[in-house]
Amino acid sequence: MCGIVGYIGAKNCIPILIGGLKRLEYRGYDSAGIGILTDDSTKVIKSVGKVSVLQEKVDSLDLNANIGIGHTRWATHGVPNEINAHPHMNADGSLLLIHNGIIENYEVLKETLKHFGYEFRSETDTEVLTMLIDSFLKKGHDLLNAVRAALSEVEGTYGIAVIYKEEPDKIVVAKKGSPLVIGIGDNENYIASDVSALVAHTQQVVYLEDGEVAEVYCDKFIAKDVSDKEIEKEVKEITLKLDEISKSGYAHFMLKEIMEQPESICNAMRGRLLLGEGTSKLGGLEDYIDRIVQSKRIIISACGTSWHAGLVGEYMLEQFAEIPTEVEYASEFRYRNPLIYPDDTIIFISQSGETADTLAALKESKRKGALVIGICNVVGSSIARESSTGIYIHAGPEIGVASTKAFTAQLTVLSLLTLLIARKKRMSLVDGQNIVKEIESLPEKIEKILSLDSKIEKIADQFKDAKNFLYLGRGYNFPVALEGALKLKEISYIHAEGYPAAEMKHGPIALIDKDMPVVFLAPKDSTYDKILSNIQEVKARHGRIIAVASESDNRIDKLVDYTIKIPDTIRMLMPILTVVPLQLLAYHIAVKKGLNVDQPRNLAKSVTVE
Ligand code: G6P
Repeated sequence: MCGIVGYIGAKNCIPILIGGLKRLEYRGYDSAGIGILTDDSTKVIKSVGKVSVLQEKVDSLDLNANIGIGHTRWATHGVPNEINAHPHMNADGSLLLIHNGIIENYEVLKETLKHFGYEFRSETDTEVLTMLIDSFLKKGHDLLNAVRAALSEVEGTYGIAVIYKEEPDKIVVAKKGSPLVIGIGDNENYIASDVSALVAHTQQVVYLEDGEVAEVYCDKFIAKDVSDKEIEKEVKEITLKLDEISKSGYAHFMLKEIMEQPESICNAMRGRLLLGEGTSKLGGLEDYIDRIVQSKRIIISACGTSWHAGLVGEYMLEQFAEIPTEVEYASEFRYRNPLIYPDDTIIFISQSGETADTLAALKESKRKGALVIGICNVVGSSIARESSTGIYIHAGPEIGVASTKAFTAQLTVLSLLTLLIARKKRMSLVDGQNIVKEIESLPEKIEKILSLDSKIEKIADQFKDAKNFLYLGRGYNFPVALEGALKLKEISYIHAEGYPAAEMKHGPIALIDKDMPVVFLAPKDSTYDKILSNIQEVKARHGRIIAVASESDNRIDKLVDYTIKIPDTIRMLMPILTVVPLQLLAYHIAVKKGLNVDQPRNLAKSVTVE
């Protein structure tokens, strides 16, 4: 979703802003803009579409400035056009503002401001905030206090950056609900909504917390809390490396991230498996493990792909940890005043650690006294920081909007958690050791599946013109069917649905004819014979079938049109393998359709608004 970048120092800020916006492109956006402050004036340049379009415009103007802000906008209030793009400015153009988040009471504020003679050019909530700050400047406040006063009237979420012609030595930033990071340089400073925009320039960062504001000068920054008290902020070192956020020779980030999975799941399990004891070691949980083991219930809450990981977690935890587990969409959980008891453990799963609904559900659960565990990828993200404790999945930066390696790393971590709890309960040493060995063998098995890439590409060729797809699986593979369908619709725009295979007879079977491709997840497990019956039912209605099946299976080939054979593992870990061919299938179909795989239309990597 929207991205923020800014610079103050001795260099020309233009290439820094454009470079930063390019790093933020992966978040998903539809327009972009920059605003700069030169000796005697401000200048704003905006464009609809890609940052490259903005860059062309900016290059043709030969600009030079030492302070500036830039923004990628994902439309919420008003269509994507230049007027609605950020930065927004006050009437005389002396004040420029960029904003992530949503000002919920903007209509009331707008009416009041109109009453005082303010005129609006855009349909955005952000322009309202700009004018509100302007109204406090007009009352004699300095920039920082005008920003604070305006924000005290605002309901909603924001990460903002403001520059003002009358105070040209600073950028004022503030945060509530949307991430805001200050990057510390040598006599220069940066601001961004995401460290990936900073990593080319500095490894030293300061994360603002909700309610905090800061004045960022070229040689210092001053941060204040809600009560206007100056606060000492800890400078943190980011470990992110530039090559981790480049395509490294792959055509797309998504392909790179699919191919990285043997390594990313190794990283997720590194140092966490204890073969001798047949268990796992999760440092962050050490102080909480007794309480977790004694939980009467586990609730897992998340959105999108992370929610699918949660569904697999439910199967794992109920089967082995023997704790009743429920999985909730964070957006529903947060609003229905859920019943939360002191002996509940609530797990929030989020790749980005910034998803607004997941974060809000977490805060509500904490407020109700639950033990809250975060499973996140992005180190230092809001969900990671707000959780009582947590487990990082260590998948490395995921740039492709469609989540791939984060999903398999989330499942790996959920299997470690399950093992840890199960061994504290009734699981035997031998069973624990068997699971450890199976987890350790996953990277090699994924390598084998990845070697089927060209075969899967040929299958994709046969299906790229399909209008609909059905994905069916049972047990642990039902959430994989959901995830496979999600991958396809996200990047190929083909309508796809995932179903528990047995539910097919209660509706989807009506759709099956020769034009309906059906992907079956059919590894040899206890549901195998039942899945074969479902395959027969689809075949009898002339559906075209792709089956993901076990290497050792030589019955299935005769029944289906295409098979993708994968290595065997224990049921609980099967989703980590079965999902990989589905990721590749979706990827190749989207590429063959000529679509923008890494930045699909309308989607955002990190959904920071409700
Ligand atoms: C967006 C992304 C998905 C992701 C979901 C949840 O919709 O496009 O890929 O699964 O948000 O994100 P999170 O960062 O919380 O896992």
